[in-house]
Amino acid sequence: MIITLHDKSFEPYIKEVAIQNRINAIAEQISDDYKGKTPVFISMLNGAFWFTADLLKNYDGNCEVSFVKFKSYHGTESTGTVTQSVGIDVDLSGRDIIILEDIVDTGKTLSVFLDELFKHTPASVKIASLLLKPNALKYPIKVDYTGFEIPNDFIVGYGLDYDGLGRNYKDIYVVK
Ligand code: HPA
Ligand code: MG
Repeated sequence: MIITLHDKSFEPYIKEVAIQNRINAIAEQISDDYKGKTPVFISMLNGAFWFTADLLKNYDGNCEVSFVKFKSYHGTESTGTVTQSVGIDVDLSGRDIIILEDIVDTGKTLSVFLDELFKHTPASVKIASLLLKPNALKYPIKVDYTGFEIPNDFIVGYGLDYDGLGRNYKDIYVVK
């Protein structure tokens, strides 16, 4: 099925079942790695809302979750400026943090956020991202848990938007 959002058409790229299988595997791996600990998942809104929900439903053990909100994209381009509208609301000192991202692209948003996060003196920080565009990375970000590595094509669906539209789709689509 082709979908149209604003002025662009998108075609199917990663199907729901593949996304869910990959997330289940990551949830299992994180559950193993954090056995006996109570990590704090920090979900990067808006895009990571599905990933956060599906990952945590499959996370086995005690954990907390908190949400932050940054914005750097306008249309299909990164604007270069990162603005924050929802901040950290839990005490992170001495805690094990796992950041949940829908996509790591240039890495700019994460690099801004990591600078802020380290001021809270967490015990550890790891990053889980459903999608990673390795060829777009401009900042020294290490993603510890990756769902899918993809080329530098613009995608939507499963939380990802094109100017606000497309987040609701269960599958991921790529621009035609
Ligand atoms: N799609 C939607 N949002 C994004 C993307 C993308 O490919 N890359 C970074 N933010
Ligand atoms: Mg976006």
